[in-house]
Amino acid sequence: MHPDNQLSIARYRRHAAGYDASARRTMALRLRTIALLQLRPGDVVLDVGAGTGLSYAPLLQAVGAGGRVLAVEQSPDMFALAERRVQQHGWPQLWHIQSAAEDVQLPHAPDALLFNYVHDITRSPQAVTNLLRQARPGARIAMAGMKFFPWWTGPLNLLAWLKNRPYNARATDLWQPWDKVAARCQDFHVGSTQGGMGYIAHGRLISP
Ligand SMILES: C[S@@+](CC[C@H](N)C(=O)[O-])C[C@H]1O[C@@H](n2cnc3c(N)ncnc32)[C@H](O)[C@@H]1O
Repeated sequence: MHPDNQLSIARYRRHAAGYDASARRTMALRLRTIALLQLRPGDVVLDVGAGTGLSYAPLLQAVGAGGRVLAVEQSPDMFALAERRVQQHGWPQLWHIQSAAEDVQLPHAPDALLFNYVHDITRSPQAVTNLLRQARPGARIAMAGMKFFPWWTGPLNLLAWLKNRPYNARATDLWQPWDKVAARCQDFHVGSTQGGMGYIAHGRLISP
């Protein structure tokens, strides 16, 4: 396993218990990203780096009884909390697995992929390649996360780095966190959130 994956797992071991409480203030942004996927009943959607499963309920609601939610999460501590959520609700249309995004084998080709606050995955060429090669041509993609402020704001980026470092192994690589995914997409749009310290983006996977 790559050292960055090991570092991420160690970091989320410390954060898992308090994650849902700390994520509450960004829940509205998660829902905005999900809305950009324009999910339809019957769709298969992949939740990339699902964490504790905070997006499961809204994704399941959007794809309906005939759809499927697939999810991958590498941290055993975060996955255990996601699994607890699944046990509480049942959710027969949900399939999730504890695996690195770099290695996961999906049981169905996704029509849509959600990258919500998964910086280390979007910076991993192996993860991006592995996930996108399993998606349907033209799959809808939506992403949100943290980024650096424009370079001329200088010291503000120290703040961005400090906020990211406890969570992300690749916290120095925050200039264009969407670019590896964007390179595989058409109609890709990026907007700014959180006063410039965040981004929200969406596009469609280019057909091979
Ligand atoms: C900030 S959390 C976001 C969780 C969830 N998407 C959300 O919106 O709350 C980032 C998650 O990505 C997971 N992660 C990081 N690198 C990963 C990788 N290479 N493969 C799978 N999961 C990974 C972490 O374990 C963590 O749970």
